[in-house]
Amino acid sequence: MSLFDKHAVLEKNSILLLVGILIMVAIGGMVEILPLFYLKSTIEDAKGIRPYSPLELAGRNIYLREGCYNCHSQMVRPMRDEIERYGHFSLAAESKYDHPFQWGSKRTGPDLARVGAKYSDQWHREHLSNPRSIVPGSIMPGYPFLAKNELDYSHIADVMRTNQLVGVPYTDEQITNAVADLRAQANPDDKAVDAMLKRYPKAVARDFDGDVAKVSEMDALVAYLQMLGTLVDFKLYDDKANLR
Ligand code: HEC
Repeated sequence: MSLFDKHAVLEKNSILLLVGILIMVAIGGMVEILPLFYLKSTIEDAKGIRPYSPLELAGRNIYLREGCYNCHSQMVRPMRDEIERYGHFSLAAESKYDHPFQWGSKRTGPDLARVGAKYSDQWHREHLSNPRSIVPGSIMPGYPFLAKNELDYSHIADVMRTNQLVGVPYTDEQITNAVADLRAQANPDDKAVDAMLKRYPKAVARDFDGDVAKVSEMDALVAYLQMLGTLVDFKLYDDKANLR
């Protein structure tokens, strides 16, 4: 009886075949999964990644509320065309403080993982209020109410505490100063700006909505968009020889 004849036993008995398949899949699964339990971390740290500042976090919540993720992904895949268009591919560490993450799989609009510092605040204000005033053929909806709506930040410390609960390393000091930091980031003349910048390195304090008198939802959303992809210094990572 050759080896193939022995295999015929499996092929003629579907239950036996099923058991065989299950055993093989279980072994394959273990080979893939077990090593992960012996790694200290599956996410490689990247220098510069920090939790969102209160204003950025509030802006992120507006991004979720408005469903921007329905049309925009936030993950540059490690493929040449994407890297040429958007910049360095996304690192796992870049979204380690995202709850929930915004990788997405739908790109009606472009990926936004590297959109920070690409345009001016004014560009974003006009584009968000009326996309067609900037990009004539755009099918993106307008969000003109963002500039009018005052930002409700009464719960921002609670939002940070909730993030802390799921593993974001917000310090008690950051949570205590949440409202002061949020207001400072939207007004570069605020006296609390320096303290805010110490707590959130590389954060940018600006009057994002062009109206110092109030902190609007536009302030928060633009602050969030302007920081996307700006925390890691990719010159340290970019191995041009490999990518091009
Ligand atoms: C119906 C799909 C759709 C939705 C929803 C949507 N967008 Fe867009 N977005 C687009 C398209 C299409 C473009 C490209 C044309 C343009 O620039 O307007 C775009 C472009 C952009 C750009 C410019 C990106 C670049 O690199 O040029 C930004 C920033 C942006 N969107 C942010 C947002 C935000 C923030 C929201 C939620 C408040 C949002 N979008 C909701 C479709 C959408």
